[in-house]
Amino acid sequence: MTDLRASNGLEPGQARSPGPSVQGLLSTDSREVPPPLLEEHYEYLGSEDIDKERYLSADFHRREVEKLWKKVWQLACREEDIPEPGDFIVYDIADISLIVLRDKAGAIRAYHNACLHRGTRLCEDTGHVGQLRCPFHGFTWSLEGALTDVPSRWDFPHIEDAAFTLPQARTGVWAGYVFVNVDPAAPALADYLGDVDKHLSYFALEERFKAVHVAKVIDCNWKVALEAFIESYHVISTHPQLLEYLGDSNTQYDVYRGRDGLPGFNRMITPQATSSPQLGEPLEPQDVLDAMFRDFYPEGVGVIKVPEGQDARPVVAEALRQRLMAQSGADLSDTSDSEIVDAIEYFVFPNMAPWAGIGAPLTYRFRPYGNSPDRCVFDIMLLVALPPGVPKPKAGPIHWLGPEEDFSAAPELGGLASVFNQDLSNLPRVQRGLAAMTKPGVTLANYQEVRIRQFHQDLDAYLGD
Ligand code: FES
Ligand SMILES: [Fe+2]
Repeated sequence: MTDLRASNGLEPGQARSPGPSVQGLLSTDSREVPPPLLEEHYEYLGSEDIDKERYLSADFHRREVEKLWKKVWQLACREEDIPEPGDFIVYDIADISLIVLRDKAGAIRAYHNACLHRGTRLCEDTGHVGQLRCPFHGFTWSLEGALTDVPSRWDFPHIEDAAFTLPQARTGVWAGYVFVNVDPAAPALADYLGDVDKHLSYFALEERFKAVHVAKVIDCNWKVALEAFIESYHVISTHPQLLEYLGDSNTQYDVYRGRDGLPGFNRMITPQATSSPQLGEPLEPQDVLDAMFRDFYPEGVGVIKVPEGQDARPVVAEALRQRLMAQSGADLSDTSDSEIVDAIEYFVFPNMAPWAGIGAPLTYRFRPYGNSPDRCVFDIMLLVALPPGVPKPKAGPIHWLGPEEDFSAAPELGGLASVFNQDLSNLPRVQRGLAAMTKPGVTLANYQEVRIRQFHQDLDAYLGD
């Protein structure tokens, strides 16, 4: 047994980067900080390597399909994707395909997307229908799933209408997200989600509107992509331009274990408007502000000045708060600096990462693409604040990027596109490198990569390992 303390004399997970802690920065916030952000909840979860076959093997993928994707609650869409009766969106994952739609009474249903005659997919992408009519021979179902028409009905005396009701998966809504589950025996969605609601209910994600949704197929396993977006350890090498205003190694990582055998959740809070301790000396406050605005608020560069003796953080937060309020019409006057400037990213097992703050209101989703362990779909959504009392419009269509397009082809991502491109450049390299690696597994940092470890432990629980 290796002595894990040998290298630095500390118990595993005790070591911390130098520089201001997240909690130290939150204590200087100009507004009241939502209570969940004031918790620290790190736990050492082990240091064992993660078997590389989990990312490469077709057999492992098949086990994930049977034991994870056919059992677990998963994010299908937002409520505002299907606001009206007849609105639908197709959710595909591995071989599973569901038509997630709003019925005449306004309830959300999810039908298995296959005609009961000879199997044709009934719907593609997204749209609005009065009924579900198969394009091949015209078998038709109502929005409530009842068989309503069979062309040449006389030729099918052997089918009973009642037995030809469209099979459904389960649906549930949380924080404005629509979830689906194809397992009739799964626990209720609220039980499955557990305590993550106690955190995210402070941020009223259900009131936000999905203004942007960009999707791209990437040549890597879905877990390779997911893991690249739940740690800030890679910033120094992958996004070095961010170090001037992002406290990468000061990120706070928290893990919350699930109860009763259910998965837990986790989060990271990466402070911004503060320079990275990895630069050595802290940057001058004005330089921190200018660097951050260069990427996200160019009109503010040279205009907004940090008063002598002040930190950059409250000045950046106030300028961005005012700009966000002017752009969105939302009232953010009581919103904390942290929610305006920091990267506050939660993770909901197995594949969803909602950000809690309003300055960077992202949600990520990662899923296998078809049945290849080497390909996945990465969805990036932006959930913006709306003015009080303004009804949510219908969300626009998903912007699918082509195989040759990177995130520069999605100007709706603003300054984030170039950051995503840096991440994108790593992902297929990881997948190919894993195949070439002679070492049997990947090695994780105890603290900065603890979210990845928790994810694998929860995945093991589903796979029965
Ligand atoms: S396959 Fe659908 S009507 Fe024939
Ligand atoms: Fe990144």
